[in-house]
Amino acid sequence: MLMSNVKRWAAVTAFTAMAAVGTGCAPKKVEQDKSASVADGTIDPAGWKKAYPAQYELWKKTEEPTPTGKSRYKKGYDEDGVFYDKLDEYPFLALLYNGWGFGVEYKEPRGHAYMIHDQFEVDPARLKAGGSCLTCKTPYAPELQQRLGKDYFSKPYKEVHAQIPKEHQMLGVTCIDCHNGSDLSLKISRGFTLGKALEKLGVDRAKLSAQDKRTLVCAQCHVTYAIPKDGNMKSTDVYFPWDGSTYGGITIENIIKKLRSSPANGEWTQGVTGFKLAFIRHPEFELFSNNSPHWQAGVSCADCHMPSTTAGNQKVSDHRVMSPLKNDLKACAQCHTETPDQLRGKVYAIQDRTMSRFIRTGYATATVAKLFEMTNKAEAQGKQIDKTLYAQAKDHYEEAFYRVVFIGAENSVGFHNPTEATRVLEDAAMHAGKADGLLRQALAKAGVTVPAKVDLELEKYVNNRGSKKLMFKPEHEIKDPLAGK
Ligand code: HEC
Ligand code: HEC
Ligand code: HEC
Ligand code: HEC
Repeated sequence: MLMSNVKRWAAVTAFTAMAAVGTGCAPKKVEQDKSASVADGTIDPAGWKKAYPAQYELWKKTEEPTPTGKSRYKKGYDEDGVFYDKLDEYPFLALLYNGWGFGVEYKEPRGHAYMIHDQFEVDPARLKAGGSCLTCKTPYAPELQQRLGKDYFSKPYKEVHAQIPKEHQMLGVTCIDCHNGSDLSLKISRGFTLGKALEKLGVDRAKLSAQDKRTLVCAQCHVTYAIPKDGNMKSTDVYFPWDGSTYGGITIENIIKKLRSSPANGEWTQGVTGFKLAFIRHPEFELFSNNSPHWQAGVSCADCHMPSTTAGNQKVSDHRVMSPLKNDLKACAQCHTETPDQLRGKVYAIQDRTMSRFIRTGYATATVAKLFEMTNKAEAQGKQIDKTLYAQAKDHYEEAFYRVVFIGAENSVGFHNPTEATRVLEDAAMHAGKADGLLRQALAKAGVTVPAKVDLELEKYVNNRGSKKLMFKPEHEIKDPLAGK
């Protein structure tokens, strides 16, 4: 149920000049204290602390663990001190990602303060792409990219990281990533990635509203990107595969089309199939902005993840960015009249459905990967494999694979866009089913008997992962919440 004036609010935000007029259920944008300002180009958050101590303290709090037991699926870094790895939660991902860093260690996100720390803690296989990996991790990224040019992308991670001033080498997202110092307006500081991508969508950056920017500051990092490779597998760039899409309609179809259009996007070789593949990372912006109900209503990332709160007697935007569930859905109360428990129930209903489909489709896709392994082996042993069937199966397999990666990497478990998440997974299941059928046909033609139920040999992929020899934690596995229903 929504407060009656939500429609009015949506209309109001369409004209940001009037946004300040919005009252009632309108997200209460905090009035800015214009008296203070920070010299342009001040990267050091200590320089901002003097002018804006309340926002600084909240921002600092992203270092702290979040309450335990408040989110069913996103248990990144809670007070119980337990860390979760997506490869334990979804063992089929360990099979699918076997062959590179993401198949070794793939932790759930934790607070903003940890973005660089986590790069130092994760298995080094995850940093093979080089300096490129710093693009959405340090406020120095734009400057480093300008100064180092191509070397920024291709040089080893540690080498580029060492160029950051010592005292800021562990500093994650900071004030300057999202704000102009002089007037505190929101800004896109990553022209070399998001700036270029918006241009591709035909967006005039000068015409963006303040409400647009409450989403776009996050879209600097919470998006998918590609790291194209040269002949020596050195990174040459970081770009967003949004070609062919529109603002408000970046589709999985167009993302996959772009990724598959060039062999340079082949970042890794999948162990089980031997296929050279691209990858998709944290596409929160893409899923959310593709015509979700909240996007259509003009709601921004900051409305839900940075609600207004009080610090002393001051109203401020909550700079302790986190899951709204862990914040007792305070943000939602700006527009929704349900109790926090009712809203939590609605979020879980959406997430359970997405999760169930994700797990089922993930296993179906992993099964196809194993069928390819069987087919490749049969061919190596001299069996004749029908090339047309194989090529068709590969095509369907890749279409299924990238959709599974997309939903698995998106961090809201479908909430950001429930019907779209379902659609993407339905298509994935359809493609996986087709690939499965085609491969079984090819194997039968070659005289190979395939068991009805393929053994995924998951122990091979979930155990002894990487240099830390990580072992499967069965207690962290997420089971199909709708199994048997
Ligand atoms: C400079 C890049 C960057 C920007 C800008 C950014 N994020 Fe993040 N965000 C990250 C990274 C990286 C992580 C994962 C950190 C980790 O686990 O080490 C993350 C994690 C998160 C999390 C999970 C936090 C937790 O407690 O588990 C949320 C929620 C989030 N971001 C929302 C947002 C929102 C909303 C915005 C915009 C207001 C935003 N982010 C802007 C890079 C960014
Ligand atoms: C209508 C409210 C709403 C909007 C708008 C919204 N989110 Fe979320 N977001 C949520 C909810 C609810 C979750 C699920 C949290 C959970 O399961 O604990 C979530 C989850 C996340 C997570 C994972 C959090 C974690 O703890 O791991 C990230 C990251 C995130 N959102 C980023 C964004 C970004 C970036 C945008 C804008 C592109 C955005 N969100 C827009 C409500 C929203
Ligand atoms: C991930 C992006 C992000 C980062 C990092 C960030 N802010 Fe903000 N900040 C926002 C957003 C979004 C708003 C809301 C602006 C609006 O309503 O138009 C905001 C608003 C503000 C405001 C206006 C008053 C208020 O609370 O709404 C101040 C002051 C402020 N931020 C200071 C800071 C300081 C100081 C830091 C660093 C310690 C910081 N911000 C880091 C995104 C960010
Ligand atoms: C700024 C206002 C605003 C905020 C904040 C907001 N919502 Fe909404 N919500 C809306 C509007 C508007 C709709 C669309 C109503 C329609 O189209 O009928 C909506 C629709 C929904 C729906 C039904 C559509 C769907 O996505 O399935 C759910 C569930 C929902 N919101 C939950 C939440 C939760 C949970 C939060 C907090 C994390 C939240 N909302 C925050 C305004 C908001």
